[in-house]
Amino acid sequence: MGDKILLSETKTRGSWLEDYQKKLTTLESAVSHIKSRDSIYVHSNAAAPQLLLDALVKRAPELNGVKIYQLMTLGKADYALKEHAESFQVNSFFIGSNVREAVNAGRANYIPVFLSEIPGLFLSGEIPIDVCLLQVSPPDAHGFCSYGVSVDCTIAARKKARLVIAEVNKQMPRTLGRAFVHVSRLDHVVETDHPVPELVPAQPSEIEKAIGSNVASLVEDGATLQLGIGAIPNAVLQNLMDKRNLGVHSEMLSDGIVDLIEAGVITNDAKTVLPGKVAVTFVMGTKRLYDFVDNNPLVEFQTSDYINDPFVISQNYKMTAINSALQVDVTGQVAADTIGNLLYSGFGGQVDFVRGAAHAKQGKAIIALPSTAKGGKISRISAMLNTGSGVVTSRADVHYVVTEYGVAQLYGKTLKERARALTAIAHPDFKAEIEKQCSSYSWY
Ligand code: COA
Repeated sequence: MGDKILLSETKTRGSWLEDYQKKLTTLESAVSHIKSRDSIYVHSNAAAPQLLLDALVKRAPELNGVKIYQLMTLGKADYALKEHAESFQVNSFFIGSNVREAVNAGRANYIPVFLSEIPGLFLSGEIPIDVCLLQVSPPDAHGFCSYGVSVDCTIAARKKARLVIAEVNKQMPRTLGRAFVHVSRLDHVVETDHPVPELVPAQPSEIEKAIGSNVASLVEDGATLQLGIGAIPNAVLQNLMDKRNLGVHSEMLSDGIVDLIEAGVITNDAKTVLPGKVAVTFVMGTKRLYDFVDNNPLVEFQTSDYINDPFVISQNYKMTAINSALQVDVTGQVAADTIGNLLYSGFGGQVDFVRGAAHAKQGKAIIALPSTAKGGKISRISAMLNTGSGVVTSRADVHYVVTEYGVAQLYGKTLKERARALTAIAHPDFKAEIEKQCSSYSWY
């Protein structure tokens, strides 16, 4: 990323440059254009514009009822603090750790929705957007900035906003694909120079390694992969080193993908959608991953209404979707955004990819999770979902469920067969209890 330069350092001269220069301002002045009751879209994931958000929060005492729409964001979300509740009302499509307390305390709202459909909510005006806060790469010689590590729903929000305010961060990777915004589309620009926040993957535990190995047994040579969010997808990647000719079509990428590309396991040669390319909407990982996607024509960034469209996904031969869950009941209903009454995360692209993979030629939709939670005290396979839990993936959609104890193939199976198959991959300490609770079902 060392070749990017800010305006103060540039030797390039183009017709866009004067325009860009006029738009350059300070953080304080840039956010001064935001008014009470405006609807703001915040650039997602690791591209959340931290310095603009800090400047906005400083204006809290003079603002009232500003609506903030966001996906997951890395970094602070001080606008969601209790003391700013009158100034900012947060509406989140995915609950990250920085807004989880606010959502569960009732100060912030959760919007359950498929990632593929969020851009449409903005474009249709169902969710009106007044202001878009971005963090982009410095402009190239033609005046194009890149949306960097997150493209997903941001283009749709930017198109509808009457005011577009951008941090132009020298350290934001210049990602390629449908990833560009011309400086003529920006209203106010603040040049910054700070690291993009990282999400460092934890080393997989022995249980996660066993799950990774069971999932890997389902991944065929020539498959196109989607990997969801959480500890399991990363453990799966570490088990794929002996596969051949894999491809990637995924809403997100994490660090583990880079190892497989460098080892020649991921070639993208057998892909039938965007062949030869790793296709994504956002990346979240360490600087190694951010450096990898910088100016890299191998990685094609596209919007989430394209990448996550189940029809597009289903055009990939051997599409294999690997996602995680918090709880699965014995009929196959998948709880992935709630733990009982606790609102935990979001739909993201889980259902988009489960449906797309299920309809792909030789596709596979896999839900992988540890058999227990809280140090083995709670079974994640249960007769019934906890009171308050919501279903993300329905039992008609689910095909494979994997734990450290094996693989349950549920598609086309009766409720009774599903209960047997899922109990077989539950932790041995809980099997008797699950069977006892199942006896209350008439079909068991
Ligand atoms: N009962 C009680 N607690 C539970 C539980 C259960 N059934 N299941 C999980 N937990 C606890 C865990 O113990 C952990 O707590 P800890 O942090 O105190 O250890 C916490 O909840 C998180 O669970 P974990 O399994 O570690 O989460 P993860 O980071 O691996 O993510 C999902 C798993 C399901 C939350 C994540 O994949 C997700 O958000 N999925 C939905 C969206 C999706 O799949 N999108 C596709 C790609 S973005």
